[in-house]
Amino acid sequence: MFGKNKIPKAVETNKEKRLQHIAFIMDGNGRWAKKRGMPRTYGHSVGAKVFKKIIEYCGDSGIKAVTVYAFSTENWKRPKEEVDTILSLFVDYLSDAEESWKERNIQVHFLGDKSVFPPEIAERMVKLEQDSFDREKILNIAVNYGGRDDIVHAVNALIKEGKTEITEDDITSHLYTKDSPAPDLIVRTGAETRLSNFLLWDSAYSELYFTSTLWPDFDEKSVDECVFEFYKRKRRYGGV
Ligand code: FPP
Repeated sequence: MFGKNKIPKAVETNKEKRLQHIAFIMDGNGRWAKKRGMPRTYGHSVGAKVFKKIIEYCGDSGIKAVTVYAFSTENWKRPKEEVDTILSLFVDYLSDAEESWKERNIQVHFLGDKSVFPPEIAERMVKLEQDSFDREKILNIAVNYGGRDDIVHAVNALIKEGKTEITEDDITSHLYTKDSPAPDLIVRTGAETRLSNFLLWDSAYSELYFTSTLWPDFDEKSVDECVFEFYKRKRRYGGV
């Protein structure tokens, strides 16, 4: 399935080592457009097409869960025109992708506080989650998401439940990502080597993969390369 990079059979069939959850920080849209003398918004519209292609490829490749960082709690600081473009690409994607998720047996989750969106968009997001909840694979789209905000949101939910002392499991089970296994691999495109407030709690033992490829140039072969690299890593989880 993964192109010419063959996954060693022993690893692929070992359930404990199998890549179940891959997450993407889709960085570099603006630089990609600038290099071509185009506005940053053009980079986002190409990035949105790549996003759709990569989700479909991961779904077809049998990966259980995919998470993408589409819009962070900090991205609101960008110029209004850019914010509006990203959000309108997101809304277009919502009306466009439903069939593709259904075909691939994908349930969708939106990570982050939906209340900032206009009610018709927030309601659409909830409906898409409800309509797909019993499907086998998972797509998490992080919009208005921040890793710190996710932890605070979980702790506040626990306080509301009346807890006065909490465990790690309590937090894990109250995060926006509670329905997914922890990410095995986090990929960041665009040459920056940081997490930028993405999946802070969940990434404790994730493998990290940074590439200088800008998101609009990322393709199926790039996914193969990440996955192949993942299977070369030795995961010890603090043991020996
Ligand atoms: C980072 O590139 C990208 C974003 C902040 C937005 C990602 C959005 C999309 C891929 C398209 C819309 C989303 C969906 C879900 C359809 P950057 O702008 O920070 O690039 P730069 O580092 O080169 O400036």
